[in-house]
Amino acid sequence: MENVASSIKSYKSEVEQNKDQYLGELIDLLKIPSVSADPQYKDDVLRAAEFVKQKLVDAGADNVELCTTPGHPIVYGEKMIDTNAPTVLVYGHYDVQPPDPMDLWDSPPFEPVIKDEKIYARGACDDKGQVYMHIKAFELMTQNDDLPCNIKFLVEGEEEVGSDNLGDFVENNKEKLSADVVLISDTSMIANDVPSITVGLRGLSYVEVEVTGPNRDLHSGVYGGAVANPINILSNMIASLQDENKKITIPGFYDDVVELSEAEREEMAKAPFDEHAYKNDLVINDVEGETGYSSLERTSIRPTLDVNGIWGGYTGEGAKTVLPSKAYAKISMRLVPNQNSDKITKLFTDHFLAIAPKSVKVKVTPHHGGEAAVTPIDSVAYQAASKAMEDTFGKKPIPVRGGGSIPIVALFEDVLGLKTVLMGFGLDSDAIHSPNVHYGVFNYLKGIETIPLFYRHYAEMSK
Ligand code: BES
Ligand code: MN
Ligand code: MN
Repeated sequence: MENVASSIKSYKSEVEQNKDQYLGELIDLLKIPSVSADPQYKDDVLRAAEFVKQKLVDAGADNVELCTTPGHPIVYGEKMIDTNAPTVLVYGHYDVQPPDPMDLWDSPPFEPVIKDEKIYARGACDDKGQVYMHIKAFELMTQNDDLPCNIKFLVEGEEEVGSDNLGDFVENNKEKLSADVVLISDTSMIANDVPSITVGLRGLSYVEVEVTGPNRDLHSGVYGGAVANPINILSNMIASLQDENKKITIPGFYDDVVELSEAEREEMAKAPFDEHAYKNDLVINDVEGETGYSSLERTSIRPTLDVNGIWGGYTGEGAKTVLPSKAYAKISMRLVPNQNSDKITKLFTDHFLAIAPKSVKVKVTPHHGGEAAVTPIDSVAYQAASKAMEDTFGKKPIPVRGGGSIPIVALFEDVLGLKTVLMGFGLDSDAIHSPNVHYGVFNYLKGIETIPLFYRHYAEMSK
């Protein structure tokens, strides 16, 4: 084994030489505003798909195609080199979150700039930069006739809106997508000098609620005090969803939650976490969350409930005295393994309707959801990823459970029977989904250098 590892080709110098080219191409992709949530960007989303398709062709992939869906297209491509070699399904997404709020960006979201060795643009890290690492790593391997595995690429355009159509595509294309493992770079590491591999994702239940009071907006002096104000009511209802220990009060919410053993929690606590730096970075005086759990646990192994947006009444300049007719909120619940998102959505809905006072009408509309996932650390593929990162970072990566969601990962397991390796190269401080999101040039290039080593180790270790 040791000999095998030491004879592995490193692409460090090639990556360094091609740096400007790699950055330039990624910048071209980042210029395309592929916002999946907003129909206004439909043509741009298609342009991004075509860009990815063309780059896969240029990099040497075969059978590259845009697979149409009722929503945005899926890009598929493959390189089958040997039926005896293992097959890796590489998944990523070319769509991005909406860029709002626009006024908080230091430079426009779709006019990428490189500043302080970071690429600033919507999607830089999540996930265009990380997808593009895979295309360039693949190109290096095909150019050097050094591809040790079969590769299938699946790059979708609806991850940021819940991957609904990809779920159907996976169901209908089991043969086409058959593989030995899924490889995804769409997560983060602890730090550039503390490499880590994500071994868990949370699930998601997302709902929108509408509270209606009187049939029309009212004068808050003439009617205020005698008629229910839907914003006041909604605020109270939301506040009641958590108790003083920040436990969620929805009956049955924790029924399916798997508690970790003390040993597992101790293992988790070994991951470095600097609470002081965490607070400084966010400019908060204290952290907050469920009693009895650490910040790391609160953001990974525990379910949560958060209001993502709340509106109603008058929010314009100055003051208007109004008792509004309606109030709204968007609420997300992050879920942990064994919780089911449809069940949680139903529990939420039943509870929210039950706690509404008679003075208002309440409507709950479910949005997208997804299930949590845990990925094994004793698999050949995980070990290959770990070795690859150890080769390029000089340190063995730490396995950590992540807090975000990638809904398709659970489906890859359920429908295709495939385990996933989440070898991400972002940092939590990259500010994904926020204004001024960025991706380190170091991380981008390190990813391109590391990915070929994954394939090499995986092929060797699978023998
Ligand atoms: N890449 C993220 C998920 C992620 C980020 C996982 C960082 C772990 C660490 C993904 O693009 C994402 O944002 N997913 C959404 C879910 C989706 C259904 C909208 C999320 O987590 O909010
Ligand atoms: Mn992503
Ligand atoms: Mn995202």
